[in-house]
Amino acid sequence: MTKNPLTDLTSLKTRSSSKWRRFAPDVLPMHVAEMDYDIAENIKELLISKVANSDLGYTGPVPEVAAGFVKFAAERWGWQVDPKQVRLSTDVGVSAVEILRAISKPGDKVVINSPVYSSFFEWIPEVGLEVVDVPLVPAEVQWQLDLVALEAAFKQGAVAYLICHPHNPLGKLFTREELVAIAELAKKYNVLVISDEIHGPLTYADQEFVPYLSVSEAARETGVCITAASKSWNVAGLKASVIVTESAKVVEKLKKLPAALHWRSGLLGAFAMGEAFSNSVDWLDAAIELNLKSRELLGELLAKHVPMVKYWVPESGYLAWLDVSALNIGENPALKIIEEQRVAFVPGVDLGKQYGQYVRINFACHPASLERAVLALAAYAK
Ligand SMILES: Cc1ncc(COP(=O)(O)O)c(C=O)c1O
Repeated sequence: MTKNPLTDLTSLKTRSSSKWRRFAPDVLPMHVAEMDYDIAENIKELLISKVANSDLGYTGPVPEVAAGFVKFAAERWGWQVDPKQVRLSTDVGVSAVEILRAISKPGDKVVINSPVYSSFFEWIPEVGLEVVDVPLVPAEVQWQLDLVALEAAFKQGAVAYLICHPHNPLGKLFTREELVAIAELAKKYNVLVISDEIHGPLTYADQEFVPYLSVSEAARETGVCITAASKSWNVAGLKASVIVTESAKVVEKLKKLPAALHWRSGLLGAFAMGEAFSNSVDWLDAAIELNLKSRELLGELLAKHVPMVKYWVPESGYLAWLDVSALNIGENPALKIIEEQRVAFVPGVDLGKQYGQYVRINFACHPASLERAVLALAAYAK
């Protein structure tokens, strides 16, 4: 049986990752997407054995990565992937940037759906391209994709549509129907769909994650999946990811991708990813179970202390998007909360300029941390 991966609070404070170093030590970090969990024992042993053997050179062939991803995709999602179309890359951010660079010319347009992971707003201009936002539309249970607005954006000319599936910060899963409709539009307007599926493995057991490339022939002809084990197995510092294609058409579109993406991934990251996908499902399920408990606790704490804060229950992942407008915290709630309450959320404006009255919280943490974070919001409840 996998042991409970929750790390004790004292050890967490000795970590050196961005989560624990970005703010002063008295600030509770609820921002960056890292889990407060110990990594899987088998991944830890693999890493320790490579370090003990001074096996830290450049990344050569690592067939374990494609083999692991193919196995995981088939067993978890019933998605049959061709191992020859799984290539190693540095990380999901680099994959997105290099794919965009390979298919575009300066000034081309790329569609996204805000509110969305802040780096999407950086990756696109990094290669001289223009962001076209087709915002998701808030609804009671989950935010919705506006397919009419999406088609209008494609019609005006876009080279790519970068989707976040599952969606950060909403934990929204695009439905099979939505993905099929996206693929039809992408085919009609010759748009490359870049599907960032990094949060896919973290989907809750009562929900279905449907990989974009699995939905139709049109999806296979228009899409590329970028993903990694880094988010789901908590090893983001190791630097490795995969780019997955399924059709000759997309392979041809991506022919300018630098071969060096392989060498620019970390050796430890590549092997950890292979091990995660092939042998670490028990650990993943234990992490999802903890996330589920934490998601429930977050709902209870919000209902008890700040019922006026609107929250959408994520279908996947450990991030939640909170509408704090009713608390009247001022122009930049996240900034004020750090200054006054010493708790760090991600400011809503980082995920789209119109979301000043939202914050993003990472709830893959201790119950005590979650309570302190919600009480920080409660300080503003009248
Ligand atoms: C949707 C999404 N994509 C990509 C990343 C970053 O991935 P990487 O570290 O592989 O660049 C994150 C990190 O939070 C994310 O939420």
